[in-house]
Amino acid sequence: MAQKDRLARLRALRDEAGLGGGKDRVAQQHAKSKLTARERIDLLVDEGTFVELDAFVTHRATDFGLDKERYLGDGVVTGFGKVDGRLVYVFSQDFTVFGGSLSEAHAEKICKVMDLAVRNGAPIVGLNDSGGARIQEGVVSLGGYADIFLRNTLASGVVPQLSAIMGPCAGGAVYSPAITDFVVMVRDTAYMFVTGPNVVKTVTHEDVSFEELGGAEVHSSRSGVAHFAVDTEADCCALLRRLLAFLPSNNLDDAPTRPTEDPADRMDAELDGIVPEQANKSYDMHDVIRRVVDEGDFLEVHEKWAGNILCGFAHLAGRSIGIVAQQPMVLAGVLDIDASIKAARFVRFCDAFNIPLLTFVDVPGFLPGTAQEHGGIIRNGAKLLYAYAEATVPKLTVITRKAYGGAYDVMSSKHIRGDYNVAWPTAEIAVMGPEGAVNVVFKEELAKGRDADKRRQQLVAEYVEKFANPFVAAARGYIDDVIEPRQTRPRLAAALESLQGKRDSNPKKKHGNIPL
Ligand code: HXC
Repeated sequence: MAQKDRLARLRALRDEAGLGGGKDRVAQQHAKSKLTARERIDLLVDEGTFVELDAFVTHRATDFGLDKERYLGDGVVTGFGKVDGRLVYVFSQDFTVFGGSLSEAHAEKICKVMDLAVRNGAPIVGLNDSGGARIQEGVVSLGGYADIFLRNTLASGVVPQLSAIMGPCAGGAVYSPAITDFVVMVRDTAYMFVTGPNVVKTVTHEDVSFEELGGAEVHSSRSGVAHFAVDTEADCCALLRRLLAFLPSNNLDDAPTRPTEDPADRMDAELDGIVPEQANKSYDMHDVIRRVVDEGDFLEVHEKWAGNILCGFAHLAGRSIGIVAQQPMVLAGVLDIDASIKAARFVRFCDAFNIPLLTFVDVPGFLPGTAQEHGGIIRNGAKLLYAYAEATVPKLTVITRKAYGGAYDVMSSKHIRGDYNVAWPTAEIAVMGPEGAVNVVFKEELAKGRDADKRRQQLVAEYVEKFANPFVAAARGYIDDVIEPRQTRPRLAAALESLQGKRDSNPKKKHGNIPL
């Protein structure tokens, strides 16, 4: 064959591969407000940086009509590119080819880019849009999923793994995204469930729609499966790019830095008055966070789930940090099962990827009641305690108000290796709140006394003076300083800088046994 014919053939094949399942199916995809696998990659990576791999791979099976239809690429576009100039590996499922279903060859392509990502220390981003296991390939397809699950697990804590759900994701297929570090779902077009509405109807007689069972709203606000919900696929890709900017490429790299115009020694006088005079009044911890971090830029993770604790990324004096903070506006910032699980996983992610942790504490304790106790608040609260205790990244802690009971210990206290722990003058660090304490200690006296209310008030005032303040802890060195709230940013920035060379490790072991 002549050279020019060979080139022409290559170009024709490339064009064919570029069309996935064909023009009609691409039109159907667009009609559902969905983009094609390639269009999504274009939105994700820097222009002109994507290098495709395995574009000529096709499926091998021949049963059930598979011998009659064969598509180049076999339903998934894989390769590498750059996001803000940094290497990422990508797979993007192509719904126009057998509904993006996973065949043996399709799985091998995904495994190949996952292996490359780990070998080269770069994040892996999966854009999921698939009808699940390729029905015609049977167990071979199930094996392909297991090959991916294994790689997700081995890559966990080595390179960041991000999943975007942009269409169906059902059955066992959900477990690959579930193992990854962050899941983003697109509203109205994405859904995730282990068994679909039809099976649900048969087994439990519940009538439930795809959206109600496993849409973006449900998973970002009720189940916690999704860390983010977005309106469009373009928003989804923009969010993935934004998220990647906070993350190192792998567990051996430091967290990335970002130049900032925001001075490290900037004080904020508004912080001095942010905590209300009355202990039971709330305030928005977002305000505190935004006033402290660079340019007020905070990327919140799990924004709509377990709102009593806030988790997210920011920069401090140019350095990427992970923030965990109680939110007094939701359930008074109490620690409950979901909040503990949410924050524990976030803390472990940051620790695995060398992202320093900043914790703002205003916690009345763990949530009482049978629902929590029977739901396993002991087992689940222990996750957060364990996560903080094992974390060896720089840990900065600011107690803004309440730090009561076991929650004081849990929230990145000095005792579990907090590096720089400070309190505002409004801090109350004690075994429990004043009223509760007085009722326990002076139970008999208050039951008998005629002027019980007056006496109670007196005792409460005495307790506040003696215990519910930061100075008892400061006298012990359990906090390193009591600072004026306005000084928070300069102090934290200086502390973070001092911790750049921090070396700490855990005893050598196969792995710990976190109470899962
Ligand atoms: C082969 C599939 C397929 C699959 C869809 N297609 N899913 N082909 N294997 N799993 C094909 C369809 O035949 C169709 O082909 C094209 O993809 C588009 O599908 P439609 O049904 O027309 O699209 P839509 O109406 O949008 O519905 C999408 C869907 C539906 C809800 C995903 O296709 C569906 O229910 N598919 C089956 C889902 C499923 O049960 N998968 C197995 C789950 S169990 P044509 O030629 O008409 O374009 C599983 C186990 C994983 O995945 C285990 C891991 C351990």
